[in-house]
Amino acid sequence: MSGPSFPTPDLSHLNSSHYKFVYEPAEDTFLLLDALEKDYRFLETLDPLFCVEIGSGSGCATAFLGSMLGSRSRAFFCTDVNPKAASATIQTAQKNSVAVNAVLTDLTQALQPRLNGQVDLLVFNPPYVVTTSDEVGSRSIEAAWAGGIDGREVIDRTLPVVNELLSPGGVFYMVVIRENRPEELMDLMRSRYGLESQVVMSRRAGQEGLSILRFQRPARS
Ligand SMILES: C[S@@+](CC[C@H](N)C(=O)[O-])C[C@H]1O[C@@H](n2cnc3c(N)ncnc32)[C@H](O)[C@@H]1O
Repeated sequence: MSGPSFPTPDLSHLNSSHYKFVYEPAEDTFLLLDALEKDYRFLETLDPLFCVEIGSGSGCATAFLGSMLGSRSRAFFCTDVNPKAASATIQTAQKNSVAVNAVLTDLTQALQPRLNGQVDLLVFNPPYVVTTSDEVGSRSIEAAWAGGIDGREVIDRTLPVVNELLSPGGVFYMVVIRENRPEELMDLMRSRYGLESQVVMSRRAGQEGLSILRFQRPARS
């Protein structure tokens, strides 16, 4: 699953004053972009109609997908709990000529049940850092990293949503760190929802052992 390479989106409209409130793309973001690029041929064949990014932050990943796959004949939805992130996502989409619907909501609540069973491509770089539970639930920059116990509190709430949203051929990419126990997540998604998974890429970034997991329903024979 390799193919051409695509440029990092233009984020020149964002500066340190934005990044006080909105997650600045970092190693986790770039590993996600690399994994999507690695899967380009697969995604091109999937030809997703409804694409959703949960927690879009600066909008970097969706802008990348828009330029990689083209945004004509596709609908891109981005969600975030942070109003400044939603606004940054809109600016990034405009700067990179990608048509995006940015929605201020928890996970994908405002898109459901309308998009249930219809999302072909779902992406989430979640707040995965291990913190105390009371740090979870902010609507500002802390929401970018605070993941609660095992960094799993937002991730665990996302799992049933993935099953509700994915179309029959749909695929879900998620960033995790070692502390989130990726193998357990993969087992859970299989035993609860019958979703198969793979580690698309892994990379060490400082203290973080990052991986990108890909989940999808088994192919029908
Ligand atoms: C690690 S940052 C990733 C930002 C961006 N997608 C990237 O890869 O650079 C996590 C993002 O998820 C958002 N977020 C956290 N909890 C959320 C929730 N319950 N629903 C929607 N977005 C959430 C944060 O505000 C933040 O923008």
